[in-house]
Amino acid sequence: MYGKEIKKVLITKEEIASRVRELGEQITLDYRGEPITLVCTLRGASVFFADLIRQIKCDVEIDFIAVSSYGGGTNTSGEVKMVKDLSSPIQGKNIIIVEDIIDSGVTLSYLKKLLEARQPRSLKVCSLLDKPSRRKVEFEGDYIGFSIENEYVVGYGLDYNQHMRNLPEVCVLAPEVYGG
Ligand code: PRP
Repeated sequence: MYGKEIKKVLITKEEIASRVRELGEQITLDYRGEPITLVCTLRGASVFFADLIRQIKCDVEIDFIAVSSYGGGTNTSGEVKMVKDLSSPIQGKNIIIVEDIIDSGVTLSYLKKLLEARQPRSLKVCSLLDKPSRRKVEFEGDYIGFSIENEYVVGYGLDYNQHMRNLPEVCVLAPEVYGG
C-alpha cells in the first residue's frame, strides 16, 4: 500500500495495544467508577479514541470536537479555529480530551481554555503521542502514551495531507515525501 513513503515503523501494533490497555487501566483507577465524558478531537485522534474507550471500565459518554490550525503543512501557525463543537453541554462533568499528538501545544492550550470556561467538574488531557521538543507554548498532558523525538509521524490516525491515517502502526514518514 505505502512503500517508499515510509522510513520505518516507530511504534508497532502490539506496543500501541499494550500501552492503550495501560492508559485505560490508569484512567479506570483514577476515576474509581465515576462517569467520564471522553472528547475525541477529530480527525487524528479517532483511531486511538476507538481503542481507548474500550479499555476504560467506567460509565463513559463520548463526544466529538474538531478544531483546525491555520496554515496546514508541518508547522502550525499558532491560530486555532473551531470547526465542529461538542454536541452536549459539559458543565459539572468529568472530561478527558483525547488527542493523537501534542506538538507545539497550541491546539490543546486553546481547547483546554475553551472547555474550562464551560465549568466541567474536572478536565484532563490524554494524548497518544507527545513531542515535547516542539513546544511553542507550555503544555503538559495528564496521560501520555509515548513521548517521541521530532520526526514526522503518520498512521494510527495521524496523516500526511489526509493520507496514511489507516496504517495500523505509528510510522516515520520518509523526509523526501515532505521535503524535510
Ligand atoms: C494535529 C493533532 C493535534 C494538533 C497538534 O491536528 O491532531 O490536534 O495537530 O499540534 P499542536 O500541538 O502543534 O497544536 P491537525 O490540525 O493536523 O488535524 P487532524 O487531527 O485532522 O489531523
